[in-house]
Amino acid sequence: MGRLAVGVAVGVAVATCAVAGVVVGRRLRSRRKWRRVVGVLRELEDSCETPVGRLKQVVDAMAVEMHAGLASEGGSKLKMLLTFVDRLPTGSEIGTYYALDLGGTNFRVLRVQLGGTRSSILSKDVKRQRIPEHLMTSTSEDLFDFITSKLKQFVEQEETVSEAAQSRTRELGFTFSFPVKQISIRSGFLIRWNKGFAIEDMIGCEIVERLQGALMKKGLDMWATVLVNDTVGILALGHYYDADTVAAVKIGTGTNACYMERADAIIKCQGLLTSSGGMVVNMEWGNFWSSHLPRTTYDIDMDLESPNPNDQGFEKMISGMYLGDIVRRVILRMCEESDIFGPVSSKLLTPFVLEMPLMAAMHEDESPDLKEVAAILRETLEIQDVPLKARRLVVKVCDVVTRRAARLAAAGIVGILKKIGRDGTGGITGSRSKSDAKMRRTVVAVEGSLYTSYMMFREYLHEALNEILGEDVAQHVVLRTTEDGSCVGAALLAALHSSSSSSSSSDGLHRRQ
Ligand code: BGC
Repeated sequence: MGRLAVGVAVGVAVATCAVAGVVVGRRLRSRRKWRRVVGVLRELEDSCETPVGRLKQVVDAMAVEMHAGLASEGGSKLKMLLTFVDRLPTGSEIGTYYALDLGGTNFRVLRVQLGGTRSSILSKDVKRQRIPEHLMTSTSEDLFDFITSKLKQFVEQEETVSEAAQSRTRELGFTFSFPVKQISIRSGFLIRWNKGFAIEDMIGCEIVERLQGALMKKGLDMWATVLVNDTVGILALGHYYDADTVAAVKIGTGTNACYMERADAIIKCQGLLTSSGGMVVNMEWGNFWSSHLPRTTYDIDMDLESPNPNDQGFEKMISGMYLGDIVRRVILRMCEESDIFGPVSSKLLTPFVLEMPLMAAMHEDESPDLKEVAAILRETLEIQDVPLKARRLVVKVCDVVTRRAARLAAAGIVGILKKIGRDGTGGITGSRSKSDAKMRRTVVAVEGSLYTSYMMFREYLHEALNEILGEDVAQHVVLRTTEDGSCVGAALLAALHSSSSSSSSSDGLHRRQ
C-alpha cells in the first residue's frame, strides 16, 4: 500500500471515530436526559405513595379531627359546620319547588315537581350556565344580579306549572357551596371564598338577605326557604331514594362531605335539641390537614402561589380544580430537566391551563400511539411533536396524581364511617374487632365530575375503600351516585321546610334552657 493510501485510510478511520464519538456522545447525553425525566417521575411516584397503612393513618386523623371540630369552635381545621338540617326527605314531599345552585364553575336553576309518594319526581327542569369569569371576582351585587336575572328568565319561560302553583309565592332552596356559618336553616354568613371566587364585599355577610334583596329588585315573588351546602343537597336526595344514606361526598371542582351526626355529639353547641336527635354537619373537609398526607413539592408550590395559601389542603390534593395543575407542574419540571418535550412554552407556564377533563382524557387515552395525549399537549400546552415514550410518561404522571387523589378521598370517606361507627371497628374509641361488630347497610351518596365522569378515579377510589375496610366490611358500604343532588336536594329540603308543608315546624330546633 502506498503512503497516500495509508494516509487516506487513517484519515477515514479518524473521521469515522470522530463521527462515532459524536453519535455516542449525543446518545449518552440524550440517555442522561431521559434518565433525568424518568427520575422526575420516580420521585413523584415515591412522594405520592399511599400504601394502605398510610391511608389508615389518614382515616384515623380524619376521625380525630372530626371530634376536635365538633368539640370547640376553631378546634380543628375541619370546621364541622352546623346546617340546621335535622330531618331528611322521606319520599312523601309534594308540590313544585325551585332551587338555585351556586358553587363552582357552573350555576344551575331548577324546578322540580314532587309526587308526594314513593320518592316520585314527576318532572325536573334544570338550566345550567357557566359563571362568567369576571363575576367571580366582581361585586356581590353583580353576582346576585346575574343569578336572579337567569332565574327570572327561567320562571318566565315556564309553561307546565299549574295556575295554583303560579298564584302562590314560589319557594326555593338556595345551594351556596362555600364555607358558611349558619344560624338557622335559612340564614348564614359567608366565612370565606374558595374555588377561584373572591368577592370581598360579601365576606361576613348574610347570604339569604342578599339573595332575597336581589329577587325583590327583579320583581320576583320567590322565597328562599332553605340555605344549604351542595353536599347537604346530595345527602337529602340520597336519603329521599334510600333511607340508609348517612353521608354525602362531592368531588368536583372542589370537594367536601357532610353526614348525619347525633346532636349530643356536637359538643360545641351544648344543649342543642333537634326533633330527630340528629343534625347534618357540613364538614368542609376540603380544609382537612394531617401530617400523614403525602405532599410533594408541586403541592407546596401550588399552594404558595394560590390565592388561599395554607387553606383547603385536602381539596388541593383531591379536587378537579387542582389535579390538572399538579400534572402541568410535573410536565414543566420534566421540560426543564430535558429537551425531550422541546422548549418550555408560555402555555406550560400558565397556571390552571390544563383543566381536569383534559387531564382525564390524556389518562384514559387508549389509542396505541396516544393520539389524544399528543393533541392535548400540542393544543393546550403548546408542546409539539412529543415522542411516544414521553407521551407514555405523561399518562403515567396523570395516573399517579389521580390515584393519590382517589385513594385519599376513600380514606376520607372511611374516616366519616369510623366517626359514626360504621367502619366495622366499633367507632373511634371502640375496641371490638371487625368480626364481632355487626355491620349495617351504609349508603354514602356521591356526586361530582371526578367520581361520575372519570372512570379511573372512581376505580381507584373503590379499590382503596376495599383495601382499607376489608371485603367483609366493604360489602355493607354502598357508594351511590345521585344526579343533580346539590339542587334537587335543596328543592326537597325547601319542600320539607315549606310554610305550606304540614311536616314543617318552624325549624324543629330548640336549645335546652
Ligand atoms: C367548598 C364546599 C363545597 C365543596 C364542593 C369547597 O370548596 O368549601 O363548601 O361543598 O367545595 O363544591
